[in-house]
Amino acid sequence: RAATPQKYLVTNRHPESNDQIEKVLESLKISDESLQQIMLLLEDEMNAGLSPAMHKNAVVKMFPTYVRSTPDGSEVGQVLALDLGGTNFRVLLINLLGHAQINLTSKIFVIPQSIMLGEGMNLFRHLADCLLDFMKKENLVRTSVRYPLGFTFSFPCKQEGLASARLTSWTKGFTCAGVVNEDVVKMLQRALDEKNINVQCVALVNDTVGTLMACAYKDPHTAIGLILGTGTNACYMEQLNKVGTWDGDHSEPKQVIINMEWGAFGDNNKLNHIRTKYDEEVDLSSLNPGKQIFEKMISGMYMGEIVRLIMLDLMQQDLLFLGHREGYSGYKAPLFSRGGFYTKFVSTVETDEGIGFSNTRRVLEDIGIRNPTYDDCAIVQHISRHVSKRAARLAGAGMAVLINRINRPNVTVGVDGSLYRYHPRFKRNMEKCMHALVNKHIKFKLALSDDGSGKGAALVASVADRTLRRKPL
Ligand code: GLC
Repeated sequence: RAATPQKYLVTNRHPESNDQIEKVLESLKISDESLQQIMLLLEDEMNAGLSPAMHKNAVVKMFPTYVRSTPDGSEVGQVLALDLGGTNFRVLLINLLGHAQINLTSKIFVIPQSIMLGEGMNLFRHLADCLLDFMKKENLVRTSVRYPLGFTFSFPCKQEGLASARLTSWTKGFTCAGVVNEDVVKMLQRALDEKNINVQCVALVNDTVGTLMACAYKDPHTAIGLILGTGTNACYMEQLNKVGTWDGDHSEPKQVIINMEWGAFGDNNKLNHIRTKYDEEVDLSSLNPGKQIFEKMISGMYMGEIVRLIMLDLMQQDLLFLGHREGYSGYKAPLFSRGGFYTKFVSTVETDEGIGFSNTRRVLEDIGIRNPTYDDCAIVQHISRHVSKRAARLAGAGMAVLINRINRPNVTVGVDGSLYRYHPRFKRNMEKCMHALVNKHIKFKLALSDDGSGKGAALVASVADRTLRRKPL
């Protein structure tokens, strides 16, 4: 069994050192009562986002997605999808076979930093090039067929329809020029048409929506989509009468999926009471200071960085990596460099059980701490646990708000993202906290959604395509 937090007490160290370390980590603890307060706050922000009078100044934007129903498994057809927004960019070819069966081929491409930070149209041209490359390999470049395409674009967008979405701001690592306020479907289509690619983008979805849809294809209780990856966000099925900002038609079903963009919770300083100096530092040195405050306390893009800043602080106070401070020189050393400690290291460190710390040792050697001691390993694991547990509890509290609001006897949450997938205890920590916060009469389930965001985009696209074809010219 893993050492319990109190038992990491070390041998060759003064007891007051432990107290000092505990004091630092204390600031990362959020009690159940505090989480309940945060839930109330989030619910207020959600209502503001949905209210026509308050939407403009609301931080949690609650964008209606124009997706009005979940799939029932009968969808059929061959659809392409592009999935942009996390660490990787993927192109997918999806065959919907009916009876909830899906065949899928996909290829991962890299988006170079120069494109992530460069001119907007070049980003879309790059996506078109990757798509064309994939289509050639799959033998899809035929002039007689025009394939429908679903575009998973995982950034905040104000939608005006299924195939029309204006980017409101970049998040995560992107800052391409000339895209904010533009219709990204138009920009993509322009890039496709420039290269005469026989594809029509018929739907844009957020990754949360794709995840919800893909999960609903298999489980009809699905009403929420959650991403815990590079970024974090959630979407859910909301009743139209609660969506004051809805400007679409009021036909049945009287519901619409809302892309919350919950990463921006706290951007109006309302979460300052739970932020630590490390959170502030992460924010200040990010590409978008002051923005995505909730996301920065939870998601994979920032978790490793929070752990790094705590380790650095403890080292500089002579509480960690004793004897390394002098030798560990140069500002090029990973511990001194922004992004020098990856979130996947946090997962690795937390997979160690017991006192061997073989994984933790490897990670520490990797960042240049030669021959780390038992104390070093135990403390680094202790820090990692606190940081990831706080993230899981915050995400869990957000989920509890949605589940209580949906208030059905059974609610399934479709979840995807590298943090959720690879962290050894994120799910467990989240569920534990949700059991304390979700109303007792509701049964909930967290279901990992494989390839969810791409499949979901294909599902939305196939339905949109059929509707388009049925429309008289
Ligand atoms: C960021 C994006 C959001 C996305 C999330 C997860 O928060 O703004 O659109 O869903 O990351 O990828």
